[in-house]
Amino acid sequence: MAVWVSACRLDEIAEGRGRALELAGVRVAVFRVGGAAWAIAGRCPHAGGTLGFGWVEEGEAVCPLHHWRFRLGDGRCATVRGEWVECFPCEIRGDHVWVAV
Ligand code: FES
Repeated sequence: MAVWVSACRLDEIAEGRGRALELAGVRVAVFRVGGAAWAIAGRCPHAGGTLGFGWVEEGEAVCPLHHWRFRLGDGRCATVRGEWVECFPCEIRGDHVWVAV
């Protein structure tokens, strides 16, 4: 069962960038796009890169190591067919980002 966890303040994430976090023992990457935040699994399925050190291009999280791209909406990999990362429910409450892990 998912547990909602306060991840960080929204203003601790630069616009269009990610943040690497460990929430309830789960590696999570949280991205900020405009006034919204998105949370996906923190480990890239290619070679274990830290997705939270990545950035967003056209609604896709970009892994900093070899630039595989993952759609923020559903976690599907836009670079290699069939690859994906888990997505977590994510909300902004006040000035904090909350993630269900
Ligand atoms: S580790 Fe992410 S693209 Fe290679």
